[in-house]
Amino acid sequence: MHIIFVGPPGAGKGTQSARLSRLLGLPHIAAGDLLRAVRAQDTPLGHTAKQYMDAGQLVPDDVTIQIIEQRLAQPDAKDGAILDGFPRTLTQAKALDESFARHNSSSHGNEIVLYLKASRGVVLERMKGRWICQQCGSVYHIPNVAPTEAGQCDVCGAPLFQRSDETPEIQAKRYEVYEHDTLPIVDYYRQHGTLMEINGEQDVENVTRDILAAIDARKAALIALEPRVSGGIEGLTSKPTWRGRGDQSRPIW
Ligand code: AP5
Repeated sequence: MHIIFVGPPGAGKGTQSARLSRLLGLPHIAAGDLLRAVRAQDTPLGHTAKQYMDAGQLVPDDVTIQIIEQRLAQPDAKDGAILDGFPRTLTQAKALDESFARHNSSSHGNEIVLYLKASRGVVLERMKGRWICQQCGSVYHIPNVAPTEAGQCDVCGAPLFQRSDETPEIQAKRYEVYEHDTLPIVDYYRQHGTLMEINGEQDVENVTRDILAAIDARKAALIALEPRVSGGIEGLTSKPTWRGRGDQSRPIW
């Protein structure tokens, strides 16, 4: 199954994607992280990415689509992945549909789009307080999701830093770009019947709980369609395996 996160900057897409990746054993593909890696290179493509990202603008579709398609073609993403921050435009959403049809036939049609809703005020506050581990990428928020030791990652002990696009001006611009360029894809996925809305303003645990319930509901809906496909929907059997420990155990299809 492909899990696609849509939502404003700072809504918690990265935080929830990392948790789901651990719980469901699916790779977490973060468009922003892939583009930051490109931007760090002293190449024409790196310079292009830097120019757009430093302005709070979206990197051009052709560049972003190519980078995501290459990542989705890796063997670990063959049967599913968690997409964080892609697609963000209608052109990207349509390219993704075509890519699934071409390369991921086993899970094509099993997508779920999680629309993580949060107001402008909430997301601007979250971005302001965000700190990231330099080494393992764990995300914190001060004071909401604070590390045990100030300035130090709980997971690997490395120092925490703030992203270079976390100035108030760039954050405000990113929100504006989201409203103009990304919100239209919510309607696109709503019309496709794959969209589930999640209240992203709750605490981290409750957001995860609602996301897992939405995924279960989507899987149940897909299983209800099962008789139409001989032997069941490929990549989605009615016998789940289980991953995780204690209350966090979830059925994995
Ligand atoms: P990207 O890195 O994807 O940034 P974004 O979408 O703006 O998302 P963020 O990473 O800011 O937020 P998030 O929703 O992941 O929230 P997080 O979990 O960190 O993109 C950066 C740039 O790359 C773009 O501006 C663009 O230039 C380019 N780009 C990326 N994708 C592109 C694409 N598809 N096309 C073209 N260009 C693209 O959480 C935020 C904070 O809140 C954290 O501190 C966290 O600890 C805290 N928090 C999270 N959840 C909660 C909660 N429930 N309660 C309290 N605090 C919480």
